[in-house]
Amino acid sequence: MARLFFIFGIIFLFIFCYTPVRSNDQEGHITVDISNKGLDFLKDLLIEKAESSLLPLYLPKIENAVTIPIMGKVHKVLSNITVDRIDVISSNVRTSDNGIHIAVSGATANLSMNWKYSYSTSLVPIAVSDQGSATIGVESMEIGLILSLKNLQGSFKLSVLECGCNVKDISIKLDGGASWLYRGLVNAFEGTIISAVENAVSKKINDKIIKLDSVLQSLPKEVPITSIAALNITFLDDPKLSESSLDLEIDGLLSAKDETLVSNHYNKTLQPSFSCKEVDKMVGVSLHEDVLKSASTVYFEAKKMNWIVEYASDRYLLNTSVWRFIVPQLYKLYPDDDIKLNISVSSLPTIKFGKQQIDATIPFDMVIDVSDAGEIIPVAGISMVISASIFAEISGNTVIGSVKLNDFSMSLNWSKIGDLHIRQVQLVISTVLKTVILPYVNAQLSKGHSLPVFHGYKLQDTQIVCVDSWIVFCSDVVSAKKFSLA
Ligand SMILES: *[C@@H]1O[C@H](CO)[C@@H](O)[C@H](O)[C@H]1NC(C)=O
Ligand SMILES: *[C@@H]1O[C@H](CO)[C@@H](O)[C@H](O)[C@H]1NC(C)=O
Ligand SMILES: *[C@@H]1O[C@H](CO)[C@@H](O)[C@H](O)[C@H]1NC(C)=O
Ligand SMILES: *[C@@H]1O[C@H](CO)[C@@H](O)[C@H](O)[C@H]1NC(C)=O
Ligand SMILES: *[C@@H]1O[C@H](CO)[C@@H](O)[C@H](O)[C@H]1NC(C)=O
Ligand SMILES: *[C@@H]1O[C@H](CO)[C@@H](O)[C@H](O)[C@H]1NC(C)=O
Ligand SMILES: *[C@@H]1O[C@H](CO)[C@@H](O)[C@H](O)[C@H]1NC(C)=O
Repeated sequence: MARLFFIFGIIFLFIFCYTPVRSNDQEGHITVDISNKGLDFLKDLLIEKAESSLLPLYLPKIENAVTIPIMGKVHKVLSNITVDRIDVISSNVRTSDNGIHIAVSGATANLSMNWKYSYSTSLVPIAVSDQGSATIGVESMEIGLILSLKNLQGSFKLSVLECGCNVKDISIKLDGGASWLYRGLVNAFEGTIISAVENAVSKKINDKIIKLDSVLQSLPKEVPITSIAALNITFLDDPKLSESSLDLEIDGLLSAKDETLVSNHYNKTLQPSFSCKEVDKMVGVSLHEDVLKSASTVYFEAKKMNWIVEYASDRYLLNTSVWRFIVPQLYKLYPDDDIKLNISVSSLPTIKFGKQQIDATIPFDMVIDVSDAGEIIPVAGISMVISASIFAEISGNTVIGSVKLNDFSMSLNWSKIGDLHIRQVQLVISTVLKTVILPYVNAQLSKGHSLPVFHGYKLQDTQIVCVDSWIVFCSDVVSAKKFSLA
């Protein structure tokens, strides 16, 4: 169970990390809703990245020749024009039916360049030239971007619907040469510089989106979750964009690695009826109970649901001497020997998400082995059914769980030591369950599984809500650095 829990944490993290989507009417088993608050967070992240990744931005050389009275023909060249700094002051993001709109309403930029002029006239037949450098400050720049996010064969197709850049005002400062004299000349280039900046910024944004798109499309459709299980992260449908959120649908079922899941035995699911908007969180990830069912199927089929419970200091019950009065014939045959319980899940567990907990009914086969002079001797086989509830909680960045035993029944399957008083054996087994196994499992689960930090970001104030057949995680995301300072 600790294992299932772990899987579950990983799934959550994975999705969180890749933040994927939805469209034809197919319903995923995992849905991700990113609220406006979450989109805002992503936008800030994106802009922070863009501010540095767009740079340095090289503009093409600008040159022209003008004929000025008396001076004659003057040849001017602006070269090595480089945008080396962009600061975004304010921006906003919103979604609509046709895409994701990002508007940068105030940005400044700094450019550097080299300038040069030369002329010769009939009055001054010797060629005159001068050169120097200049810095240009872009005082106000606006950028508008509309992105479309579609499903392409299970991956995302990100494309630019519109991208515009508008520079309002620039200031030019020359260094070197007789700069004061030629300032006027350079200023004459203002319009050309403005449109060069506008074109270069738009083009670079387009190029970056194309790159990002190819990254998105190359993301694997299946990710390994544990050594034997892989999660299908095929996106179903187009992302659903509304005014207040971006919703994604993911297949979300687990299968054994390198095997295709026959997913038709999973019924179509309804959407979760709970939305994280109610609790004002950045992101909501909903897992359908089929995700856990598929995980338990993989583990069951791989015969990984098998445990040996044996003697340990807190397990004094696992000794035939303790069973002496309950199963006297066992003690007679194997006095003072260790008992080992070989427990394996005998058929697929039933998993149901209840209110605030996960209910599981698990059928087990248990073989009672005694360890006599180093030899393991099976003495009896018991079939049992345990029904338990699992509770999950996220505290800080750690997933913590606990298990409560609801019901327990057993019957004797076979015995090599004659008739057993099954009611009495049941008493011992249930004592072992309650005093040894459950406390052990709970101790493991209460240690919690700490969620790794992804690219410097982690979850904060995560809430878990179970509704119908869904478990919904609502969370905020914060920078791990800020988090640790707090
Ligand atoms: C071109 O500009 C870059 C960045 O401002 C600078 O590092 C480089 O030295 C310049 N090259 C020339 C030839 O001026
Ligand atoms: C960038 O330009 C702005 C004006 O647009 C100016 O105030 C600022 O000092 C410049 N920064 C650098 C590093 O040159
Ligand atoms: C993953 O899910 C998609 C859509 O439900 C399905 O077509 C595909 O076969 C699945 N892949 C595997 C490996 O199960
Ligand atoms: C799917 O739905 C049908 C009808 O509601 C039900 O009989 C069947 O047990 C369901 N299957 C699963 C795997 O839940
Ligand atoms: C089982 O219990 C008996 C009696 O308490 C003890 O002598 C023996 O060492 C125990 N066996 C093991 C393997 O601990
Ligand atoms: C436990 O039982 C299973 C089947 O019931 C068997 O395959 C396995 O070998 C047993 N393991 C041990 C250590 O006895
Ligand atoms: C009875 O025991 C046999 C052998 O250990 C096992 O294969 C079978 O599954 C058990 N039957 C039941 C109903 O548990």
